[in-house]
Parts: sequence; structure tokens; C-alpha cells
Amino acid sequence: MKGVILAAGKGERLNPLTDDRPKVMLKVANKAIIDYLLENLHPFVDEFIIIVRYQKEKLMEYLGDEYKGKPVTYVEQVEGEGTAKAIYSAIEYIEDKEFLAVNGDIYFERDGIKDLLQAFRKSNADAALLVKEFKDLSHFGMIKVKGDLVEEVKEKPGAVSGYANLGAYLFKPEVFKFIENTSQSQRGEYEITDTINLMIKEGKKVTYAVYEGYWNDIGRPWNLLELNEYILKNHLRHSIRGIVEEGATVLPPVEIGEGTVIRSGVYIIGPVKIGKNSKIGPNCFIRPYTSIGDKCHIGNAVEIKNSIIMDHSNVPHLNYVGDSIIGENSNLGAGTITANLRHDNKNIKVEIKDKLEDSGRRKLGAIIGHNVKTGINVTIYPGRKIGSNSFVGPGVIVDKNIPSNVLVITKQEKEIIE
Ligand code: UTP
Repeated sequence: MKGVILAAGKGERLNPLTDDRPKVMLKVANKAIIDYLLENLHPFVDEFIIIVRYQKEKLMEYLGDEYKGKPVTYVEQVEGEGTAKAIYSAIEYIEDKEFLAVNGDIYFERDGIKDLLQAFRKSNADAALLVKEFKDLSHFGMIKVKGDLVEEVKEKPGAVSGYANLGAYLFKPEVFKFIENTSQSQRGEYEITDTINLMIKEGKKVTYAVYEGYWNDIGRPWNLLELNEYILKNHLRHSIRGIVEEGATVLPPVEIGEGTVIRSGVYIIGPVKIGKNSKIGPNCFIRPYTSIGDKCHIGNAVEIKNSIIMDHSNVPHLNYVGDSIIGENSNLGAGTITANLRHDNKNIKVEIKDKLEDSGRRKLGAIIGHNVKTGINVTIYPGRKIGSNSFVGPGVIVDKNIPSNVLVITKQEKEIIE
């Protein structure tokens, strides 16, 4: 069976982390989102068809043309926007058998696909989708069911409970005919959920499988932190391949990659994952649910908790990083501090595509892009973003989002320079 993975989207809600790469390449617990999905689908498919467009070269170079012995074929989504158009792009590559189609930005456990296949075969259906029960469907498409069959997919039904569409489907090739007849949605995209409604209207049997396990749809920055926490809590094995100097404390489970050195005075409370060839310490405190990538440097008098630090980034002296994400190749100046809690204890809001959204979290720090540099004593307010390739000068208080590719300095410093 072929596995079609949709990975052509821009991932704009994850800016600035997606400024220069497809969303599916972002690493959570030191592994790209798409790698988890490929691993999950691997037992069920004999070829991966990856639908690409935004920053496609980067993804193609990253994955290459096979994954664990199975071919990976890239197909460019040339025409139109939306998941239906993305699936349609695979038309030439699907023969006469059923195929899997999965959003590239979702994480779930392997059982999901097994259940989906079983439901499809049991009801001898024309299509199947994976659903999960949620108490509040405000952010989901609702799947209305009757017995074994789906009656309707309803977009964003509000704060009601029910089955949500998870973004994993089984289709027969006849779906392409229905996609051709699917109209544009209100937001100007061609949605596969509209195609499914059309199939149901025309008498096709669409069934569903109820998935009970963990699932995450990586749409917004805090979803990366949620997933990081889940993976570290549930899938981390204590293993130390690097060097732990005398005088350092490592409380399991902690994974430390080859070539990494944990210097004296470091105190690590697992679950924590640290990649290869990183330098940690001396004298820093790494708290649970932290992932630190390859070739990072975490230095003296630094505290990090519940955060993702991507490859080649430095948090070198006198820093506090809490509930934050730091992209690749970034460097915090001495004394750069992230605030992760409001004084009034209210949920932290983040600007997503020009709108303030409630993250649902009381604790959320900074979202820092790639190749960012901050000067000494930079203070970053909760939920603020710093765009990729930007430089934030000494003493700046980041109380508003900083776009990518800019230099931000204090008034005093500007006067000195002028
Ligand atoms: P999303 O709705 O999350 O869209 O797509 P997106 O573009 O990735 O993210 P935003 O809205 O800009 O933040 C769900 C999945 O479908 C793929 C995406 O790559 C993602 O894996 N997709 C979406 C396509 O392949 N093509 C499309 O035209 C739209």
C-alpha cells in the first residue's frame, strides 16, 4: 500500500520557526516531526509519496530517496491550496488499490493506522478516517457518525464534545473523481473533508476508527512543547553515550548523545534529552522536559526547563529559559532571560497570523527563530517571538514580537551609535 504524506503547506502559524524550512522538518525531542510519522507508517506501506511545495528542496535533501529500505517519492503540489489538492497531486502514483493519506504534521502512535485499516476492511468501506473523542471541538472538524458509518464532517462546530477528525485517511483511487468535483471552501482552500461529505452524499460508505492514544496536530508553537513533553515522558530511555564528569548529577531518564560532555556541577533532572557533541556546564541546572540538540552549548549559571533548544544553539551564561523554543544556530547573550508566567497568572496569548490566540497555557516563554542573537540582559516577555536572523541588542525588553531579519537596539544605544 502507498502512503501519501501531505507536507506542502507553509506552516505560517509556526513562524518564525518555519521561516526557512517546512514545518515537518522541525525537531521535537531531537527528531524531525516527519521522522516520527515515517517510522509509524513504515510497517503498513511499501512506498512513501510525499507531497511537497514550500521549501521542498530542504525536505528532499533531508529525507533522501528511501526510508529504512522503502522508496520515498516526492510529488510537487502545483495547483491550488488545501488538503484535497495535496492528495490529488498523487493521482499519477496511485494504481488501483486503496492508499493511506496522512497530514504530515500530526503525531500519533502506530495503533492508529492498524485500527484504521481494520475498520476499512471490516465494513468493506470506500473510505475510512481516524477520529478521536474530545470534550471541546472548537478547533476541530467534527465527525458525526451513525453505527459504523460517518454521516457528515462538520467544520469547527464550537465547544461541544464528540469525534474529531485527526487527519489520517484511507481512500480508494475513486476519491480523485470526487476531489475534481469539490468546491473551494470559505477560506479559499480545497478541503478533503468537503470531498468526504461529497462522497457520503453520493452514497459512498465512509467508515471510521476511534483512536484512543495520544495525538497532536502541530499547528502552533506550543504544540511543539506539548509533543516534546509527551515524547520525553513516554518514549525516553535512559542512556549515556557521552561523558559525565565527576561532580555532575544526572537523574534518570536522561539520554545523552555521543561526544557530549556534562561538566562538573551540572544538575540534570530527567526526562531530558541531549544530542551529540554538545557541551553542558559547568554548573547549570537542566530541569524536566528539556530537549537540547546537537552541538549546543549550555554554560555556567543557566537554568532551563520544559524547553526545546535546537541544534547548534548556545545558552552560554546567566540565562533562564523556561517553556520556550529556541531554533537552530541561535545564541543568547549573558543575562538574557525568558519570562514564562504572567503576574496575574492568566493564560498566555500569542500572536498567530496577526491575531492574538490563547495558548491555553499559564506557562509559556519565548519562541525564538533560527540564527537569532541576543545581547546581554535582554528580557523577553511571555509568549513573544523573535524572528529568524534578527539581532536583539543589549538591554532590550522584548514586550512585542520582533520580526525576522531586523536589528533591534535600545534608544540609549542608538544615541551612542549616532
Ligand atoms: P495545515 O492546515 O496545518 O496547513 O495543513 P499548513 O500550511 O501546514 O499550516 P499553516 O496553516 O500555514 O500554519 C495540514 C497538513 O496538510 C499539508 C500541510 O503541509 C500539513 O502537513 N498541506 C496543507 C498540504 O500539503 N498542502 C496544502 O495545500 C495544505
